[in-house]
Amino acid sequence: MTAALAVRYTEYGGPAVLTLDAVELPEPGPGEVRVEVRAAGVNPFDCKARRGLYAHDGAPAEPVRVGLECSGVVDALGPDVEGWAVGDAVFGLAPGSAATHVVVPAAGMVAKPGGLTFVQAAALPVACETAYRVVRLLDVQAGDVVLVHAAAGAVGLVASQLALARGARVIGTAGAANHDFLASLGVEPVLYGDGLAARVHAIAPDGVDAVADASGRDVLPVSIELAGGPERVVTIADGSASQYGVRASWSADLPLPQVFETVLPLVEQGTVRMPIAATFPLEQVAAAQELSETGHLRGKIVLTAGPPD
Ligand SMILES: NC(=O)c1ccc[n+]([C@@H]2O[C@H](COP(=O)([O-])OP(=O)(O)OC[C@H]3O[C@@H](n4cnc5c(N)ncnc54)[C@H](OP(=O)(O)O)[C@@H]3O)[C@@H](O)[C@H]2O)c1
Repeated sequence: MTAALAVRYTEYGGPAVLTLDAVELPEPGPGEVRVEVRAAGVNPFDCKARRGLYAHDGAPAEPVRVGLECSGVVDALGPDVEGWAVGDAVFGLAPGSAATHVVVPAAGMVAKPGGLTFVQAAALPVACETAYRVVRLLDVQAGDVVLVHAAAGAVGLVASQLALARGARVIGTAGAANHDFLASLGVEPVLYGDGLAARVHAIAPDGVDAVADASGRDVLPVSIELAGGPERVVTIADGSASQYGVRASWSADLPLPQVFETVLPLVEQGTVRMPIAATFPLEQVAAAQELSETGHLRGKIVLTAGPPD
């Protein structure tokens, strides 16, 4: 009996390789829960993986599922699961989340507060985990001047707001269309691209104390110049980091519930805001990824499944 749908691809390429396939309803194993997905965040990783950027050979050995994060309702418990019940609303990291159902480790999920919609909750896990990690790695302190590259993107937005919450002054690179929005959050916007060092020096003559690179577009040399060295520069998007002596961070280093102990109250009180750039029903995943690949988002794209919020 088929009772689930999942977005998958069997060859690398553009959004057209994505298909919404009937799959077996997954059963949770020990320590796992099954979540009926209500919303799933779209990430640049989904598109890069689908294009084969992380592939070593010609084609995937088996169909690849899509998605990294979701919100939804627990609809089955595996053996030895404590703390969750069928019907609980949750969100968290969830590989293969672009689907109607996904099985995830129970210990990695976070209870969805009633004040957040499923769409809002699905937009949080990857961006908040990554941004919180970067701000901790940079050891951002009150009074620091922090430069955030791609400050209007999902990760950059949260990193900027977490740094502001720590009492830092934040300068954020963004396209002109996002400057007023960033300013409304308390971020000092500057245009990215050629001449960035001069634009930052014009408002921060002594340079900056720390740099978060959420752009990955060859900004490490100018970051080192502005920070006076690579020690307090961290990238999450530039594979050439080691060549510059810069720290790169590629994966979570804390359990998600621990991240949200700090970050969720900030979201609930409005200190950290995550705009929803667009929502698409699961069936329109190709259009959602096409929009993601335009590269100029303000916040998150979210896929929706099941009943509306
Ligand atoms: N290492 C990790 O653990 C990890 C985790 C999550 C994400 N990532 C990576 O981090 C990057 C950001 O992810 P995201 O989800 O925040 O992406 P996103 O939401 O798609 O944001 C993209 C942002 O990039 C900005 N941008 C476009 N062209 C730019 C340029 N030439 N210079 C500087 N910024 C430019 C855009 O700004 P404007 O709209 O203002 O033009 C947009 O806001 C991606 O490469 C992603 O794969 C890594």
